[in-house]
Amino acid sequence: MPEADAARELERLAREIADHDKRYFAEDAPCVSDADYDALKKRNAAIEAKFPQLIRPDSPSRRVGFAATEKFGKVKHGVAMLSLDNAFSDKDVTDFLERVGRFLSLGADEDLAITAEPKIDGLSASLRYEKGRFVLGATRGDGEVGEDVTANLRTLGDIPHVLKGCDVPEVIEVRGEVFMSHADFASLNKEQVALGEKAFANPRNAAAGSLRQLDAKITKRRPLKFFAYTWGEASKLPGKTQTDAIEALGAWGFPTNPLMKRCASVDEILKYYEKIAAKRASLGYDIDGVVYKVDRLDWQQRLGFVSRAPRWAVAHKFPAEQAETELFEIDIQVGRTGVLTPVARLKPVTVGGVVVTNATLHNEDEIARKDVRVGDTVVVQRAGDVIPQIVRTIVEKRPKGAKAFKFPEVCPVCGSHAVREEGEVARRCTGGLICPAQAAERLKHFVSRNAFDIEGFGSKHVDAFLADRLIAHPSDIFLLEKKFGAGPSAIAAREGWGPQSAAKLFAAIEARRTVALHRFIFALGIRHVGESTARALALNYGTVAQFVAAMTAAADEVSTAFAELNAIEGIGDTVAKAIAEFFEEEHNRAEVARLLELLDIEEAEKPKADTAVSGKTIVFTGTLEKMGRNEAKARAESLGAKVAGSVSAKTDILVAGPGAGSKLKEAEKHGVKVISEDEWLALIGGR
Ligand code: IVH
Repeated sequence: MPEADAARELERLAREIADHDKRYFAEDAPCVSDADYDALKKRNAAIEAKFPQLIRPDSPSRRVGFAATEKFGKVKHGVAMLSLDNAFSDKDVTDFLERVGRFLSLGADEDLAITAEPKIDGLSASLRYEKGRFVLGATRGDGEVGEDVTANLRTLGDIPHVLKGCDVPEVIEVRGEVFMSHADFASLNKEQVALGEKAFANPRNAAAGSLRQLDAKITKRRPLKFFAYTWGEASKLPGKTQTDAIEALGAWGFPTNPLMKRCASVDEILKYYEKIAAKRASLGYDIDGVVYKVDRLDWQQRLGFVSRAPRWAVAHKFPAEQAETELFEIDIQVGRTGVLTPVARLKPVTVGGVVVTNATLHNEDEIARKDVRVGDTVVVQRAGDVIPQIVRTIVEKRPKGAKAFKFPEVCPVCGSHAVREEGEVARRCTGGLICPAQAAERLKHFVSRNAFDIEGFGSKHVDAFLADRLIAHPSDIFLLEKKFGAGPSAIAAREGWGPQSAAKLFAAIEARRTVALHRFIFALGIRHVGESTARALALNYGTVAQFVAAMTAAADEVSTAFAELNAIEGIGDTVAKAIAEFFEEEHNRAEVARLLELLDIEEAEKPKADTAVSGKTIVFTGTLEKMGRNEAKARAESLGAKVAGSVSAKTDILVAGPGAGSKLKEAEKHGVKVISEDEWLALIGGR
């Protein structure tokens, strides 16, 4: 692979993996199987090994988990909570043992004892004990900083509040897995459904959702269990070996896994793996592999860590469970952001104890790569969790005449063109403004702060109005009373509304009938058109009439209008194409025209040429306390300044708030003038 492709692929993988991490860790709602996730990480690692110079600062290989959310207080772990490297084959396991032997320079006659234990599929927690008392409990978070869930962890019967025995260390962070048994998961889900709540997708999600509750009383009612298997900060090591240490944890009152075993050879390790794999279905809780750890703690210490995982341990993952079935149909679903996702409809088949009727096919490349066709017999897999996958198709069983699948080029929901950008795997619907599948997202964007800023019209209200068909398109917001007869009194009568809030909503809507051009452009939700692009467009075209006329002409990509659009500073090919595609859609143009009839769009203000900062390049860093970053940027630009993202010799002023870091150093290096936020405000004449 050429270096440029490798860099692009690493960027794509960083984005995709970060997205999966967010879904898994922060939202407890993963959308790919563990096996697919592992494959992405493996690909990332393989490319990085070939091109170490391309390793990105935000590389998934440098991260563990996902940054703690704002929901809970933050806890800095005494010692980082790391992840484990994976082994997928017997060879990976022998490689691990050989690596350890080489690192420690072990002689051929020296024994390397290894502990083996099930890898529990739950979520890890760190429990800090001081003088034997439980004082702080946290989730893993990004490995360095986790979420403070002390009150919630205290409600678990498996977690001692006070350690038993007299030989407890001054300080110890005991670590292990919080999980839910299959039986408890089934009854919890039954209860959830009876209460009209959403059922959890799997025991891991149920455990994570139960632990990360703001109200510990809810956690208390949830049947969570805990196994202790390691420790972080410790004023004294809990033993000389992993085996002793786990025994000590047991003596202090922690449940530890009774299946843990000390093994003396590779054969014994691999036999253990087979035994646990055979027992997997009858354990009563989810496991996704076996963890091996070097038994001697002095050796663990010598082996240490490499980036995000210890050298002294490895997770030997189970392969995903698979079954064969027939594929009836390939349906295309359109997501909230317009992405077209193919879904395979299957003849029901049991995989790993669950009946599977649908499986994701991810995108059109995936269908082409696997050459999946309607009528095929396919191998389906479930990796212990989430959405089932199609592994491959069995070509020998293909019915005669089965045709290669043709991915639609129009949105099956609204009929607009569905396009694929260069370097993207997803095909997206371009009917953003009118596509019902995207309506909620688009309307929320339209009313949001930096767009129309309609106060009192939060996302819950948008969802409710949409569900009751009061609005479908942005223009409907301004027609609530006229078209739908939903005036202030009708809205006031709705659940969650009153006369005051309804009156406020209508006043806010009225106030926005006049709006700045850049807000209007941003509100359209055109792909790649963020706030600064919207401003650049507004400045360039001046009036909405000119903007719409030029964009309609630019829909033809060989026109001069398109070339002009492409020439605007900050607008590249991708952005220009996205805008052209938006205006190419008849439906979008019609909605824009409807809006123009209802609204008064202000002319764009030309930036002032004679201000203290006109023509200057400004960089903002650190926390701004008087205004948000976007506002500060907009204000600077309206005064004729250019706002840059990084400091260089060309920078004129660095505005540094608290927490400023590397940019401050860069500014000093280049002799750039550094001022505080207050000094900046004084310079530009206040807010
Ligand atoms: S030992 C330095 N033992 O697997 C890391 N981890 O994929 C020591 N896990 O973050 C971890 N069962 O949440 C260890 N028996 C076990 C485990 C286990 C599950 C989890 C843990 C860890 C993740 C890594």
